[in-house]
Amino acid sequence: MDIISFEELDSTNIYAKNNLENLSDRSVVCARRQTSGRGRLQRSWLDLGGDNLYMTIVLKPCSESLNSFQNLTQYLSVTLCKLLESYGLTPQIKWPNDVLINGKKIAGILSEAAFQGNTMKGIVLGIGVNLNVERENLSLVTDKEVTSLNLETGKTIDLSDFQQKLTSMFFDNYDKFLKQGFEFIKSDYISRIYFLDTEISVKGFNSTVTGIAREINDCGELVLEKDKKKLVLNIGDIL
Ligand code: BTN
Repeated sequence: MDIISFEELDSTNIYAKNNLENLSDRSVVCARRQTSGRGRLQRSWLDLGGDNLYMTIVLKPCSESLNSFQNLTQYLSVTLCKLLESYGLTPQIKWPNDVLINGKKIAGILSEAAFQGNTMKGIVLGIGVNLNVERENLSLVTDKEVTSLNLETGKTIDLSDFQQKLTSMFFDNYDKFLKQGFEFIKSDYISRIYFLDTEISVKGFNSTVTGIAREINDCGELVLEKDKKKLVLNIGDIL
């Protein structure tokens, strides 16, 4: 696996997209600092200072694996939960792929497709994990409660050790995941979801919908019940 490391980038996802042609399948781009980190739904991902993980995995699909790509971020969220569990923590997943510890967000995942004309050339799968953040810097994120692994464990976290474990756990099962898709992670994913059978509101690009979260279906989509009707969501942000 090729690992390309930078001291600073605007965004590891932007770098990977702009250089996709020269990056091989399964290569990894990381940066110690990010100046314009990108988040889901047009948000940004702030560099909170300290040694945190900013990493993008470059994946180039073959036609048989294209179907599984819609669940890649969920596969990575499960992989991250397993790694965090090895630190003695109990992470939870907030659909579709936020990872929380004690109700606070510790990591974000963003996959972006890169096209040339109508052809999909690859996926850049970015992940940011707060590993070593000073408590007072957490308040720089104003729209949600966030945390960091050092604060949850009381220990300084070795960034390169964490990164190496996460990438090898990701690639250990990646081929099985590509073959089986969401089915491969469904039980591991659902066992870490915490909001089923409660009322939730989900914000999309233009609107917010409120209903009872009934299930995660076989495609990894969230099924909400509203006015006795089922709504199937494949994008959004639980508020
Ligand atoms: C989110 O929760 O909104 C997703 C955040 C994803 C952040 C990571 S950090 C590494 C990679 N590069 C980016 O610009 N974004 C992702």
